Amino acid sequence: MTRPDAADCRAISDFDLSRRNSLGLAARARYGAFVHEAQEIDALARFAGEVGLPFVVLGGGSNVVLHPEIDAVVAVLATRGRAVTGEADGDLLVTAQAGEDWPDFVQWTVAQGFGGIENLAGIPGTVGAAPVQNIGAYGIELADRFHSLTAYDRAERHWRVFRREDCRFRYRQSVFKDDPGRFVITEVTLALPGEWRPILGYAGLDSLDETVDPKTIMERVLALRGSKLPDWRVLGNAGSFFHNPVVSGAVADTIPGAPRYPQPDGTVKLSAGWLIESCGLKGHRVGDAGVYEKHALIIVNHGRATAHDISALAETIKSAVFERFGVTLQQEPLEIR
Ligand code: EPU
Repeated sequence: MTRPDAADCRAISDFDLSRRNSLGLAARARYGAFVHEAQEIDALARFAGEVGLPFVVLGGGSNVVLHPEIDAVVAVLATRGRAVTGEADGDLLVTAQAGEDWPDFVQWTVAQGFGGIENLAGIPGTVGAAPVQNIGAYGIELADRFHSLTAYDRAERHWRVFRREDCRFRYRQSVFKDDPGRFVITEVTLALPGEWRPILGYAGLDSLDETVDPKTIMERVLALRGSKLPDWRVLGNAGSFFHNPVVSGAVADTIPGAPRYPQPDGTVKLSAGWLIESCGLKGHRVGDAGVYEKHALIIVNHGRATAHDISALAETIKSAVFERFGVTLQQEPLEIR
């Protein structure tokens, strides 16, 4: 077996990631490479093994907290391609490569006249990252439209196809998150409903008429997001910084006034944004890391925030919410160090 070296797999030393993360944190990796062909992953992973460093895959960098000096080989997935690939049980199958930009992909499906993922418009990140945290917004989540994906299994060193039941999708969770670093998702296929119906249950969409088309819903979703979520190109952020906590009904009853989202199993999902705002933390800052003024679930970078500032602010938030409400918040973005 040949021994891969940095040149074979086009790894660049002292690789700058400052423009590769939506929080806008200054960060460099010991080695990094852009992956344009999925097959390059194996050689890069082996190179990481040879130099004794962890192997980390980055998509759009929209759900990560990057530390300044990352002691790893970082692969930035830049594979492109999207197409209609078939039909299954009356649904239309569309396939995209992992490096495709998710918001562009949604716009493309809608421009073709295909409904199904318009409620997920505008979520920053790549197609390959979408299944990892089972992205969700405005009443649907990726799992609802998922057909299958291809991933490289680094433990078994072979390619695998995952069907929906293999992915163990839950609220912002999946098998890919349960076993971090093991699978590199390279291609995702969605099943867009043959008989499309609008999903208008969420506040802000409920004023739309049942005869609405996917394009109008997408535009409304983009407007809603624009009105409460900061654009990371203008003000660095990683979207929701914490999961919405799911607690027992008894715990929820101890928090009067909190918005409640009852779950089918009797538990109650609470709004982390509301809990944080109720602790008076909107606008609170540690260095240049701050709680967004318009939505308390978002941590923003006002300029030169570091991973250290972000973590210190996250800890302040978690302690305040725990002390006041007895609820533990779980961080959504992954720390890469
Ligand atoms: N709220 C407050 N104060 C705040 C923020 C929110 O009181 O500062 C209250 C709102 O008034 C509302 C409730 O919290 O009653 C829910 O707020 P919102 O509709 O903004 O949704 P969210 O629960 O904060 C979730 C997702 C978002 C997704 C929206 C829309 C999570 C962790 N976040 O946010 O996803 O866009 O719903 O569906 O589930 C993301 O994951 O990065 C993300 C942005």
